[in-house]
Amino acid sequence: MPVEILSVQPEANAAFARAHDREALKSYYGFTVVWHEQRHDFSAVEDGTTLGVATIEIAASLATVKGVIVAPEARRRGIGRALLAQASDVANYYNCHKMTAEAPHGSAAQAFLEACGYHVEAVLPQHAFKLDMAIMRKFLL
Ligand SMILES: CC(C)(COP(=O)(O)OP(=O)(O)OC[C@H]1O[C@@H](n2cnc3c(N)ncnc32)[C@H](O)[C@@H]1OP(=O)(O)O)[C@@H](O)C(=O)NCCC(=O)NCCS
Repeated sequence: MPVEILSVQPEANAAFARAHDREALKSYYGFTVVWHEQRHDFSAVEDGTTLGVATIEIAASLATVKGVIVAPEARRRGIGRALLAQASDVANYYNCHKMTAEAPHGSAAQAFLEACGYHVEAVLPQHAFKLDMAIMRKFLL
């Protein structure tokens, strides 16, 4: 009988993933891995009003910037930079060697990341929405 490929709810795969995760990670990375993921959220607040937010995810000693948003009326006051600086401190505390972030190549977001100490590591052609995307990084250690 041929193997069938089914679309399933995520919970349906949980037990299989738990049973095979450890071996699969070892096979993938080439050494024994204890996988641990964390998410950290930051807000910039002034007089009780949130002006900006940022999120990072940490896994594999790498911190990934998942989002930085500053309210349009609060931009260019250093809030985005301060959010990423706090995120870097937390990533450093958890022994991350590197922060990574993505931005459309040549965009204002890339300029912002460069101003925050990130460098272009690679450009993925025709990636998100078919845009060229810059993979940016900042080493912490
Ligand atoms: C990108 C964003 C987070 C920047 O927030 P911000 O609080 O305005 O940024 P800061 O004031 O800390 O800017 C720090 C430096 O980044 C650079 N920068 C920020 N916005 C920029 C822009 N639109 N164009 C070019 N450079 C920019 C500048 O060098 C700036 O320093 P300066 O103001 O002294 O010239 C904000 O514009 C935003 O929310 N944009 C929409 C969402 C987004 O693109 N997020 C980025 C995900 S990586």
